[in-house]
Amino acid sequence: MKFFIDTANLNQIEEAQNLGVLDGVTTNPSLMAKEGITGKQNILDHYAKICKIVDGDVSAEVIATDFENMIIEGEELASINSQIVIKLPMTHDGIKAAKYFSNKGTKTNVTLVFSAGQALLAAKAGATYVSPFLGRLDDISTDGLNLISEIREIYDNYNFQTQILAASIRHTMHIIDCAKIGADVITSPLSSISGLLNHPLTDIGLEKFLSDYKKGNK
Ligand code: E4P
Repeated sequence: MKFFIDTANLNQIEEAQNLGVLDGVTTNPSLMAKEGITGKQNILDHYAKICKIVDGDVSAEVIATDFENMIIEGEELASINSQIVIKLPMTHDGIKAAKYFSNKGTKTNVTLVFSAGQALLAAKAGATYVSPFLGRLDDISTDGLNLISEIREIYDNYNFQTQILAASIRHTMHIIDCAKIGADVITSPLSSISGLLNHPLTDIGLEKFLSDYKKGNK
């Protein structure tokens, strides 16, 4: 299972990278805006900085909504670094663009996926990744994890190679549940990844080991 971090914050990306468990990064226009990164050149430069920190795939989202401009923008993003994955919205033109890039061997991530049917189309178009947003489904009283299970079943039935990238992760249990279902990748805020580290019995156990060591080595 791959771990991606879902942020454009360079410090957090660096922290996750230094932990040694990071396989890539996902961003979106909202995450870029949150870091105050605005203007085309600044955004392109920021992707280049992210690629320097991590070894794996870095999803960079197009702003264009029509096929022709998605291609122009996608090519420009892909030219930054071979780590860049072109993130395309789950729309008519987004699917066409995913097919175009897949024919060229360029990696894509079809984003804003909320149904099994959308995920099926993304796989048919040859997307490298499909991003179902489980947290946003949970937010509207719909079972986000069930969508991940449905996509897993469909992809396994036909041996689709598109990787399920569980997105919109809200907490640590989402990561564990996605691992049980068999999502290929999770993309998560740093806090949910760090949450996997913690258990009170680990802290109590370590404290006891250290105090027993001190007693025996006075
Ligand atoms: C995925 O690639 C998106 O950037 C992200 O996971 C969306 O998460 P949110 O619902 O917390 O905004």
